[in-house]
Amino acid sequence: MNLKGRSLLTLKDFTPAEIEYLIDLAADLKAKKKQGITGNSLKGKNIALIFEKPSTRTRCAFTVGCIDEGGHPEYLGKNDIQLGHKESVEDTARVLGRIFDGIEFRGFKQETVEKLAKYSGVPVWNGLTDLYHPTQILADFLTLKEQFGKLAGLNLVFVGDGRNNMANSLMIGSGKIGINFTILAPKSLWPKEDLVKTCKEYAAVAGSTITITDDMEAVKDADAIYTDVWCSMGEEDLAADRIAILKPYQVNQTLMDKTGKKETIFLHCLPAVKGNEVTEDVFEKHSKVVFDEAENRMHTIKAVMVATLGN
Ligand code: CP
Ligand code: NVA
Repeated sequence: MNLKGRSLLTLKDFTPAEIEYLIDLAADLKAKKKQGITGNSLKGKNIALIFEKPSTRTRCAFTVGCIDEGGHPEYLGKNDIQLGHKESVEDTARVLGRIFDGIEFRGFKQETVEKLAKYSGVPVWNGLTDLYHPTQILADFLTLKEQFGKLAGLNLVFVGDGRNNMANSLMIGSGKIGINFTILAPKSLWPKEDLVKTCKEYAAVAGSTITITDDMEAVKDADAIYTDVWCSMGEEDLAADRIAILKPYQVNQTLMDKTGKKETIFLHCLPAVKGNEVTEDVFEKHSKVVFDEAENRMHTIKAVMVATLGN
């Protein structure tokens, strides 16, 4: 599989086989790292890490993943560069493309990461925008594969803010890979119709289903229940409203029991606001897998850099 030179802006741009390849490459890099073996595939490569929004996992994953493979990461925080303030995105992209070999971007607009890719001429990786969080999905799917030994045919239910970057990206990834995916959310927080339609088309090809519902019974038979914060970065002002709307959608033991399966796992991209989207007891009961998922950010992000930029 040759992904050299490719950007990862959304999983829409990747075929099911390419997504599976990245997950399997990550599993391989993870196994090697556990044996103390790291690589050199990014030797001589300089990687810009642009963060308009804060980050723990994504920043650390790109930094350590890059250094493990012999590359040099450079963190560029929101007050460190001129991007979008004094200088257009197009110009910053052309400058960074002359100096760096790859660029990670986390921020608000999907349009910004797309412009960076268009104008820099080097691989650009989306480390989260308001719309999508594709590298997170690779970690989530690696975790599911570790737990169940497969992806296609699993039942995954996302509960909570059904129109945020996580819900959108899980829906895209699930449709591509053939996971039966459900968004359980109040109607006011359902994803955009056109994205649902696109994902249903992916799922039809892969032989799975996409369901958007506000019926709690939808968790029945779930292999995994996934949730995320009720207010994403930049939406802090909406907190009171969101808590009121989403309180019935909290992942608690009663909801977990509704799956009817003892082996249902709980996933969360983190950071978590315990007491809101998930209760402390459910979180702690499933914490081993949740932190596997967090660790897997590093192995999957490393795989993306190695596959698209590595020697
Ligand atoms: N899950 C995730 O992207 O975490 P950070 O915001 O800490 O990077
Ligand atoms: N939906 C969350 C994801 C954090 C990883 C946010 O955008 O803040």
